[in-house]
Amino acid sequence: MISATPIRKAVIPAAGLGTRLLPTTKSVPKELLPILDKPALQYVVEEAAEASIEQVIIVTAPGKESIAAYFRPDPRLESRLARSGAHELAERVRRAASLAEVSFVIQRQPLGLGHAVLTAKDAVGDEPFVVMLPDDIVAHSPGVTSQMLEVHREFGGGVVAVAPTPWETVHNYGVVDVSPAGERVYRINGLVEKPPREKAPSNLTIVGRYLLPPQIFECLERTAPGAKGEIQLTDGMSLLLEDHPLYAYEFLGRRYDTGTPLGLLRASLEFALAREDTRGATEAMLQEVTNHRGEC
Ligand code: G1P
Repeated sequence: MISATPIRKAVIPAAGLGTRLLPTTKSVPKELLPILDKPALQYVVEEAAEASIEQVIIVTAPGKESIAAYFRPDPRLESRLARSGAHELAERVRRAASLAEVSFVIQRQPLGLGHAVLTAKDAVGDEPFVVMLPDDIVAHSPGVTSQMLEVHREFGGGVVAVAPTPWETVHNYGVVDVSPAGERVYRINGLVEKPPREKAPSNLTIVGRYLLPPQIFECLERTAPGAKGEIQLTDGMSLLLEDHPLYAYEFLGRRYDTGTPLGLLRASLEFALAREDTRGATEAMLQEVTNHRGEC
């Protein structure tokens, strides 16, 4: 067992344009679109809080101010709800703003995921931290971030969440080249962002959770634009690998890509089916929808 520095900070990049969810995302950040009854972003902040992360740094872009508003306490709303007897709702509103200490940095230009993470350099400082992409929601208890902290405690080094993916879709992701290191854990030998299928070193693709040492920032400063002409986090990690070990962890849990309309719908449905208070009504609704298919 390697003793590891406690991980206190999470960076959540939320500066993207949300192209796959236009036109909604013209005025509503995709990170605030609901999965069942809570914004996607809140699931991610809850996952961070469960992993004892104290500070959440959200990278936003000009025009996405409503993200900061979401995390601001709203005592007037809370007391109005409490006065009308909606105590449980008041508590849910209060909880959204008090899960962790949330701060914001602005990425002024959309230069890529690596650049977004680099924007948080001063806010993170000289300590290891996690990066959580809010498009990727993983349903599991314990959460994927808690699982990764466990891997970090055992192996040290950086940790990247990965999942086996059908070969036809590997070109949409970062892909790792690995050697086995433990149960569900691999030593990373190399990484490549969005390779064509024939150049992919494996079908283990990166899911948006990373535990990284602060040295990643120097690497990102040296990273040239890569796939899509953007500064890629995956390319920064390739430079990091020259001096720092990185592990890939095949996490437990089901992953949802909530950055598309159908991904959001699927996550909402499956979450509603998994929850006791919504299961019955959702099953009945699905039955009705199936019966009426073709009628509208
Ligand atoms: C980003 C990363 C990619 C990773 C993916 C996971 O890609 O660059 O390596 O596999 O997230 O969701 P994006 O989805 O922003 O194109």
